[in-house]
Amino acid sequence: MDLRAYLQTALDAAYLAKGIHQYYQEKGFTQSTKSTPTDLVTQADHESEAAIRELIASRHPDHVVLGEEQGQDKEGAFRWIVDPLDGTVNYAHGFPFYAVSIGLEAHGEVVLGVVLDTARGELFTATKGGGAYLNGRPIRVSTRSTLVGSLLATGFPYDVNKDTENLTYFQRALTKGLMVRRPGAAALDLAYVAAGRLDGFWEVKLNPWDVAAGWLIVSEAGGRVTGLQGEEYRLGNRYLVASNGLIHQPLLDTIHGR
Ligand code: IPD
Ligand code: CA
Ligand code: CA
Repeated sequence: MDLRAYLQTALDAAYLAKGIHQYYQEKGFTQSTKSTPTDLVTQADHESEAAIRELIASRHPDHVVLGEEQGQDKEGAFRWIVDPLDGTVNYAHGFPFYAVSIGLEAHGEVVLGVVLDTARGELFTATKGGGAYLNGRPIRVSTRSTLVGSLLATGFPYDVNKDTENLTYFQRALTKGLMVRRPGAAALDLAYVAAGRLDGFWEVKLNPWDVAAGWLIVSEAGGRVTGLQGEEYRLGNRYLVASNGLIHQPLLDTIHGR
């Protein structure tokens, strides 16, 4: 497996998306809604995914792509998992916390992840067994060992008014006096855990494109990623808890009201 070549493809694809995000941020864009009136999709989402797909197809024609906007049309040993614009609502408002997220799964295992903050230009990368990096410099999760004093993040699904499960978890954390942010781009939330800017993050109802890259980046930065019961994380699990490892069990306990 030529991981270096695949990483180069992921980087080139991420920078193509960055150009598209920036172009439409300056020029203006059309937008429409998906599952709910707040679930937005813009021209930048569609065009970024199209450009990423074209690049991958030109370099690795036998590879499969799972993208948020176009789905997946075939099966294969190598699967790129792409969120062309994570944090679309932020993007649509000009709130600069959004990214492109690209992961590569080889024979069922995520082997590389790239999250590019296209507003700030911060590049988070990881390869399986090769560590995690921010702009080429190695990163590690934080060393904070107590939940009180930790900076946490979560996110809410677009139908949170109907499916209020995470409001319960959020309230449990807040009533313990914990500090919780809701930044609005799960891929970047994970990258921030990897970089030690956040000590923990959890969310319910995530999709593979939100987490494939960030999951590997957190793991390679020495963090822990599990499902909601503390089980080993597997792609497809819509519940995810990520942390520096040290606060993981107390965070799970808080979520479950223990
Ligand atoms: C969303 C963001 C948000 C999270 C949602 C995701 P999108 O992705 O990651 O932070 O709370 O669950 O759907 O729609 O902006 O790609
Ligand atoms: Ca997303
Ligand atoms: Ca998206």
